[in-house]
Amino acid sequence: MKAHLLEGNESLSAEQLTAEGIFAAVLPTEEQSYRAEVDRIKGERGYIQEDIVELSPDTPGLDAICAKFLDEHHHDEDEVRFVLSGEGIFDIRDSQDRYMRVKVEQGDMIVVPAGRHHRFLLTESKAIRCVRLFKDPSGWVAHYR
Ligand code: LAC
Ligand code: NI
Repeated sequence: MKAHLLEGNESLSAEQLTAEGIFAAVLPTEEQSYRAEVDRIKGERGYIQEDIVELSPDTPGLDAICAKFLDEHHHDEDEVRFVLSGEGIFDIRDSQDRYMRVKVEQGDMIVVPAGRHHRFLLTESKAIRCVRLFKDPSGWVAHYR
């Protein structure tokens, strides 16, 4: 996971992301290998629901989906994504309302905390496959800024 301030390009360390409340981990991407780790994180952080989301150039309505993710928003619960393949970019507001640009790749787990403004972009390959974890899927509503 690589991160920098979007404006000015200053790079951000793992410690700086942690200090900004971003949980990050690297896990193996074979189900038999990540299962125990994911279950532990679910137990520790109170996530109950789990599903898999996939975006690719073949996804119907991809442009409309991407346009929604690009619009700055927040959620009432954590946004948890564990990247099984592909890659993506999260722009997450820091405590001074600056965008931290975080690139996630295969094996990266990231948690955008509840209430934190963010947006999401695909990279040029337009492909990502992620495990999502939720406390309550009914809380999964985007509040646009
Ligand atoms: C979401 C992300 C992509 O809300 O920000 O699903
Ligand atoms: Ni979101």
